[in-house]
Amino acid sequence: MKPSVFVTRAIPEAGLARVREVCDVDLWPGEMPPPYEELVAHTRGKDGLLCLLTDRIDAALMDAGLPTLKVISQMAVGYDNIQAAEAHKRGIALGNTPGVLTEATADLAFALLLASARRIVEGVDYIRQGQWVTWHPTTLLGGDLSGATLGIIGLGRIGQAVVRRASGFNMRIIAHSPRANPADAATQGVELLSMDDLLRRADYISLHVPLNASTRHLIGARELSLMKDGATLINTTRGPVVDQAALVAALQTGRIRAALDVTDPEPLPADHPLMSLPNAIVVPHIGSASRWARDQMALMAAENLIAGVTGQPLPTAVRP
Ligand code: GLV
Repeated sequence: MKPSVFVTRAIPEAGLARVREVCDVDLWPGEMPPPYEELVAHTRGKDGLLCLLTDRIDAALMDAGLPTLKVISQMAVGYDNIQAAEAHKRGIALGNTPGVLTEATADLAFALLLASARRIVEGVDYIRQGQWVTWHPTTLLGGDLSGATLGIIGLGRIGQAVVRRASGFNMRIIAHSPRANPADAATQGVELLSMDDLLRRADYISLHVPLNASTRHLIGARELSLMKDGATLINTTRGPVVDQAALVAALQTGRIRAALDVTDPEPLPADHPLMSLPNAIVVPHIGSASRWARDQMALMAAENLIAGVTGQPLPTAVRP
């Protein structure tokens, strides 16, 4: 008999086909995530669970899956939706999909940086609203990248991929990353600083820390107040890393700018104050949304799931 698994949404076909080769698949049919009760009901009696960042995977759900549940395979690198310690406590293997979405996410962070600096969304709106009546010497002036200072908070895989892009744009690069080695950073042309010094010096600040208890609201009213006039905050990690109410208040003064791929909550309602601010750009959590990255994420999640249900070590396991 094949191992049985619950897959919480239709993932890219490459991954799904691989899972079907080895497992009996119970695939959630909807476009929307399964409601929590359905998630619990479908996990019961399964050997494995392939889930997404929109699924709340808590201790009660794990208990519903036991004694059969051997593996939780998340198709994402971030796993703040999963009570990882509870999985480890129960001996349920946990996998994620690091690496394959690094370049795609760094591309999006840089796209947001450029779009905010050169006011791309405002420019499109300007035409849509019939305001383009002539070329004007001082219309829609934006910031320069060359010679500007980029501050990276979190110099992990994605932070370093943003550094590679910024070097090509001739930016000065500073970072705050407590575990980074200053000598390694220096070879990449990065100067390591305290968080406050980074906030005071950067023209553009890009966040690349995972969401956990120590990074929730890492950027709050105090941190925003330290940012330079006209500086831009870019967030492609998780919405709650920023205190969004404080961000809205800071943006409403017009003093800073923001470009966000992630918000708190998600989805963000269309009538949210962030959506009517000219100095904010918001896109709907599409950091890893390139065709190649999503195919690889699906394949990696499939391989973790298959390894888990067949008693093998996971290729990319989340360690306790
Ligand atoms: C996407 O946000 C991910 O964590 O993979």
